Amino acid sequence: MEKKCGCWAVLKRGVRGSCKSSASKDSANTIPRTSLVYDAATETRYLNASNRELCAPNEAQLSSDKPNPPTSESKTPCQLLQFSFQELKAATGNFRPDSILGEGGFGYVFKGWIEENGTAPAKPGSGITVAVKSLKPDGLQGHREWVAEVDFLGQLHHPNLVKLIGYCIEDDQRLLVYEFMTRGSLENHLFRRTIPLPWSNRIKIALGAAKGLAFLHNGPEPVIYRDFKTSNILLDSEYNAKLSDFGLAKAGPRGDKTHVSTRVVGTYGYAAPEYVMTGHLTSKSDVYSFGVVLLEILTGRRSMDKKRPSGEQNLVTWARPYLADNKRKPPYQLVDPRLELNYSLRGVQKVSQLAYNCLSRDSKSRPTMDEVVKVLTPLQDLNDLAILSHHSRLSQQGRRKKKSDGTPQITYTHCKSIRDSPLNTGKQLYR
Ligand SMILES: Nc1ncnc2c1ncn2[C@@H]1O[C@H](COP(=O)(O)OP(=O)(O)OP(=O)(O)O)[C@@H](O)[C@H]1O
Ligand SMILES: [Mg+2]
Repeated sequence: MEKKCGCWAVLKRGVRGSCKSSASKDSANTIPRTSLVYDAATETRYLNASNRELCAPNEAQLSSDKPNPPTSESKTPCQLLQFSFQELKAATGNFRPDSILGEGGFGYVFKGWIEENGTAPAKPGSGITVAVKSLKPDGLQGHREWVAEVDFLGQLHHPNLVKLIGYCIEDDQRLLVYEFMTRGSLENHLFRRTIPLPWSNRIKIALGAAKGLAFLHNGPEPVIYRDFKTSNILLDSEYNAKLSDFGLAKAGPRGDKTHVSTRVVGTYGYAAPEYVMTGHLTSKSDVYSFGVVLLEILTGRRSMDKKRPSGEQNLVTWARPYLADNKRKPPYQLVDPRLELNYSLRGVQKVSQLAYNCLSRDSKSRPTMDEVVKVLTPLQDLNDLAILSHHSRLSQQGRRKKKSDGTPQITYTHCKSIRDSPLNTGKQLYR
């Protein structure tokens, strides 16, 4: 049994500071309630769109979605540094455009430097490198997510969660200061870089992210992450994965409650369909999103891609037939072609089966994140690369041919991709 590391502090909600926007009124949830089991057609209908918000910003909210009101008893999360706006302005060289690391729904993320002990800015290249996220001044929603981020990340510590160093709250300004993650997001590595991410790194990242989610789900006060996607998985220099962005995170159900009823937010293509349909949030919603990311890791395809032919735009819909134990559509046909034959055959089988289980239409049938970690852990050591099996079969064939008619042995260099390969049948590869 793996040693669990990480630390859970009892969540004390609320950060000092006020939001200037008027609070939206609570009202009854209008999302239709249906069974948690749904059919494929419904799934496709709900998944064929691509927005971060899954419902209109002013759509009905449940009381459980109220922002955490700043109260007189509010406690600033321990160990977080409080920066002034001037300090962060200096740390990022005046928020220089060439220090922008990325942009998300809530604003730009800048690279900056601070002194080792304290909040003072440091010269570029000295002290500690940080990532400074500056929220667009867009009122209640941004503030709500900023508070959630400080609340959760200020008190949850684990090697697979990004470290929040501190924050700034001054007038309208809301900023967050994180440890700098050298290799940026998984999204960048899977979809933007020209060099493909090696198979072993993909497994390492999936495992790290799974451990992060398992930690959240298994604490004394479970947390549902709600925004699991490739852009929220950040990578350090060793490709250790860390979850970032807790703006949408939610405390899990308490007592004998099976779910939390909440406004539906998240990202299309990742959100579990039963959650989109009912607003019922469980840790199994995160497991579904994990299944989607696992598919992205396996295929190198985005969860939603409008540039692909219809039928292939929604990754889950396209990939599902290959994931089931299907002789005519074996899972290796899903593998990111950029990997060529540099992947583990057994690894692909196991990852496909795991993705299939995580994406189960019945949320109760999905594995827990602990179970996911158990499946992924041994896959790190597999070295049954497809290319090795390919070489050995070609040389066997060559020897047989040479024996029978004296013609020279064929070489593997003619077949770069598994799709060109004479081994391109599920039977041969998985015998
Ligand atoms: N701590 C960090 N270290 C290095 N780069 C980071 C860090 N945090 C964020 N980034 C970069 O900034 C980008 C934008 O991050 P951000 O979380 O604001 O938005 P997003 O995840 O892309 O989208 P969304 O707003 O939907 O969450 C990331 O994709 C990543 O490349
Ligand atoms: Mg993000």
